[in-house]
Amino acid sequence: MGEQMGLNFMNDDLQKRIRQAMANPQNMGELANADAVGTVGNSDCGEMLRMWVKFKNENGKKVIDRATFQSFGCETAIAVASLATELIRGKTPEEALSLKSEDLAGELGPLPPMKIHCAQLVEGALRSALDPAAAEPKPTAAPAPTQPALSPTLQDSFSKPKEGVKIVFLDP
Ligand code: FES
Repeated sequence: MGEQMGLNFMNDDLQKRIRQAMANPQNMGELANADAVGTVGNSDCGEMLRMWVKFKNENGKKVIDRATFQSFGCETAIAVASLATELIRGKTPEEALSLKSEDLAGELGPLPPMKIHCAQLVEGALRSALDPAAAEPKPTAAPAPTQPALSPTLQDSFSKPKEGVKIVFLDP
């Protein structure tokens, strides 16, 4: 599968860091009573990522109390999401939105070109949760109507989105 192939192209060091993050991924799974949810997909590799965010009030400021994610197969996206959900705890939504995919990937270090979109998927899910209006896809980013964006298998495996949850497909 694509991810397996992708890992083979990485240097050993990065593979090791991804495996380490994968060995004990943080904040995986649905977050009950989340205040915000963002779901994004990449129509090229078929990966989808959903992020849940819960806020709390700290000294009169709204900050991120917890964030969790669900991903469907890509190890790099899982590793980045695990780091990112830890990184944004205690940040205001604005602070979290100012983080770029390279910041979210943090200690994984620079990702090879073919894996950069995995971190961008995490950034996209976060944006979609925290700022849904800005995360709306541009009309040109919509997949061609004749081409299904996702394989039925992946779509089937993805837990049924709740009413009102929208999946945003990121620019390829
Ligand atoms: Fe596409 Fe990782 S291979 S998100």
